[in-house]
Formats: sequence, C-alpha cells, structure tokens
Amino acid sequence: MHQHGNPAQSSDDTPADARAFWEDFYGDGKRPWTGKPNAILVDEVSGIDADGAAALDLGCGSGADAIWLAQQGWRVTAVDIAEAALVTGREHARDADVPAAAIDWQRCDLSTDFPTGTWDLISACYLHSKVDLEREQILRRAAAAVAPGGHLIVIGHWAMPEWRFPDDPPRFPSTDDVLAMLDLDGWAIIAADTREVAMTDPDGNPAARTDNVVHLRRP
Ligand SMILES: C[S@@+](CC[C@H](N)C(=O)[O-])C[C@H]1O[C@@H](n2cnc3c(N)ncnc32)[C@H](O)[C@@H]1O
Repeated sequence: MHQHGNPAQSSDDTPADARAFWEDFYGDGKRPWTGKPNAILVDEVSGIDADGAAALDLGCGSGADAIWLAQQGWRVTAVDIAEAALVTGREHARDADVPAAAIDWQRCDLSTDFPTGTWDLISACYLHSKVDLEREQILRRAAAAVAPGGHLIVIGHWAMPEWRFPDDPPRFPSTDDVLAMLDLDGWAIIAADTREVAMTDPDGNPAARTDNVVHLRRP
C-alpha cells in the first residue's frame, strides 16, 4: 500500500476542521511518495476490463491508485478534500507520462458534496479519518453512482498492531458493517473478506495488519 501515514493518531496541534487537517497532513514535503497503488485494489481490479471505462477514486490522496488505474486504461476521476494531495497527484501523473485528460482531479468534500455522474468502477481505499467524515453517507452515495454492471470496491483497515494506535485505538468497520450499511439488494458480492498487509514496526521489524475489502457488482 502506498503511504498514508497515520491519520488516526492525533497531536495537540491537530486541526479540528476536516479540510485543514488533511491539507496539513499532505502539506509541503510531509508525505513520502512510494508511487505504489494499494495492493488489494490492484488484486480486485486487475481482472476487470477497463477499456476507457469510467472510474472514480474517493479520497484519492496523492494519487497512486488514480495513476495506476489510468495506466490500466480507465478514465479516472480522482477526488480528495485536500488540494495539497491533488497537487502531488498531478505532479506524479505528469512524471509518469499519464495524459492530462486521463485523470480529472477534483477537490471535493465528500461529506457535503459528491461528483456528478455515474461510474463503471468506484473505489474507496482507506477512506478513514480522525476528523469529521460522513463515511456511511458517502459510501451510499457511491453505490447510487455505480453504473449498471459496474463495481464498487471499499477497502479499509480492520485490525492493527497495538503499537500503531497505543492511546486510543479506533474501531474500524468490518466487512459485515460495510455490507449492512450499503444494504444493496441484488448486487453480486465479488469479495467480502480480510487480507493481511505487510508493515514495518517502529523498530524496523516486519509486521502485519489486517485490512478488509468489500467488492460488489451492480446487476
Ligand atoms: C487514509 S487517507 C487514504 C488515501 C488513499 N486513498 C490511500 O489509500 O492512500 C484518507 C483520504 O481521504 C481524504 N478525505 C478525508 N475526508 C474527506 C472528505 N470529506 N472528502 C474527500 N476526501 C476526504 C483525505 O484527504 C485522504 O486523502
């Protein structure tokens, strides 16, 4: 997975406002760029024929998934609350020779707004936040924006090693929580399970966390 640091860990000077928090998170030079798309997304999407179909990446961060999707032939809309994240994404897309028209970078607060249109693929990878985020409502709006035959992929954290959140460990939604909140009658469940993801602990030793994925296909 590419770097998204530790947004659930706070400090005394953490901005309370969602946009300010994420602009600060991605502020100048703060996030190292690995350029790697999320491995679980790659696994889920690799079998789908892109061929110019439309994909929407919700909370795209600095854009490694959006760039990878564009390289697979998707026409991508990449949205994030933080302009600082989009600036990085655009730069890396240029460096990777992704044509400017292949990714539409949009700054959007998904808690109050949602891009207009329908998509053949909508992904929400680690759309978690320690500040305000209307995640359930966003995922329901995402489901409503999936075109017939299209895919909705929700990837999230599930079980973290203790050292990651020593003070106040967040409770992440399970696959059942995600399925229940979406309540999508008639959709095919392509995947609803957990996956081990390799990490490095603070002493530099190999470690692992458990993430989960819900991959649904609209009839
Ligand atoms: C944990 S990061 C994950 C980033 C990226 N998807 C990844 O997998 O690395 C959560 C992302 O959601 C974005 N985000 C948080 N609240 C948002 C909101 N209300 N609207 C849009 N994006 C938001 C953040 O700016 C951040 O890029």
